[in-house]
Amino acid sequence: MEKLVFADGNDRELNFTDKIFGISNKAQEMAAREGKDKVIDATIGALLDDNGALIVFDAVNQALHHLKPNDFAAYAPILGLPEYLDVIKKYAFGAHTPNMYTAACATPGGTGTIRNAIVNYSKKGDTVITSDWYWSAYKTLATENYRNLDTYTLFDEKGKYNLKSFEECVEKYMAVQDSLLIIINTPAHNPTGFSLTDSDWKHVIEVCEKYAALGKKLTIFADAAYIDYTEDPDSARAFLKLFESVSDNILVLLSYSASKSFTLYGMRCGALICMTNKKEICEEFENIMAFSGRGTWSNGTRAAQQVLINLYQDASLKEAVDRERDESRKMLLARGKAFEEAAKECGLEVLPYDSGFFASVPCSAPDAVGELLQKEGIFTVPLAKGLRVALSAVSEERCRIIAPAIKKAMDEYFGK
Ligand SMILES: Cc1ncc(COP(=O)(O)O)c(C=O)c1O
Repeated sequence: MEKLVFADGNDRELNFTDKIFGISNKAQEMAAREGKDKVIDATIGALLDDNGALIVFDAVNQALHHLKPNDFAAYAPILGLPEYLDVIKKYAFGAHTPNMYTAACATPGGTGTIRNAIVNYSKKGDTVITSDWYWSAYKTLATENYRNLDTYTLFDEKGKYNLKSFEECVEKYMAVQDSLLIIINTPAHNPTGFSLTDSDWKHVIEVCEKYAALGKKLTIFADAAYIDYTEDPDSARAFLKLFESVSDNILVLLSYSASKSFTLYGMRCGALICMTNKKEICEEFENIMAFSGRGTWSNGTRAAQQVLINLYQDASLKEAVDRERDESRKMLLARGKAFEEAAKECGLEVLPYDSGFFASVPCSAPDAVGELLQKEGIFTVPLAKGLRVALSAVSEERCRIIAPAIKKAMDEYFGK
């Protein structure tokens, strides 16, 4: 009998299975069956302490508990609370506020920023580009909104940003589209931990300028979800100043999320920030964001917006949250170093890692090798071209165990 299909795919790809949550569930089942100490779950993209408990910044917890009823019960304005729009730019820009027209809009997490960028800065049926190693939600978000996603090769043979591949990809779509949305997840890219250098950014801008001069419209979307977990979150923001001289046909969008920076994953709070040298484009941004917000989630989570305002305005709370974040940041960097060192010792290739929640190992049989690892109680996420290890979720000690275990599983699979 033919299967009854009720939902309408509308030509979208709807074979959705969340691989990450599926593998994480398997890890939990094994832990319940065989004991927690037998399982290393390196799938979770949230900060866990060395005992596997979710880190929640105490200052954020306090700020949440001190909210007044109206702070969470009332609607927020469609674009976000005005004070939120002001402080979120300060959090995102830090000491590197670009001398340009800027405007912000509140969104449900960083995910909402991506959705709004795709819907408003690319055409239905057009292609949005990103690198070949990318956060899989990009594809879901593009497809859900009737766009295609194509990729260029992230690394060249020396493990540097592959500008040639980037340029070729831009050229390919500028030959057939009037506009192009380019998603670049940096610094501390998911899934590799790679960061573009300022010199890479200059080249990216140069390539975009070439097509802007021909009258094309290019939107550079910088997904900075992990910017606060870099070696130096201040200098990691220096690239923002590089956009100051972009021409009017280049729009820069910065995505900032409270999920990681404030351990507020479940509160769904972020902001899309536009940076342009043309006032009208900035006004247009506010207009279309209001329309998009109204047509999707209506308005954002007021409680989270108010928490971020209060944290900014209360000097002692701000200092406390900055200190807590700094501790987590250092913990994460130490885990990354431990993983890299252990990989080097056993001869395991790891993709260029700078900082952030994840590191990745290139592998041509990620599913099979991932399954071999699972038999040893080690859970990672198989991607198209390798395995992702969530450093955010495992202790330094366990990072030192994972690297040789991956090497062993790969050797076993490839028969070395
Ligand atoms: C690359 C990247 N961008 C953005 C986000 C935003 O997440 P959220 O919507 O939870 O803020 C994430 C979260 O995993 C991510 O990995």
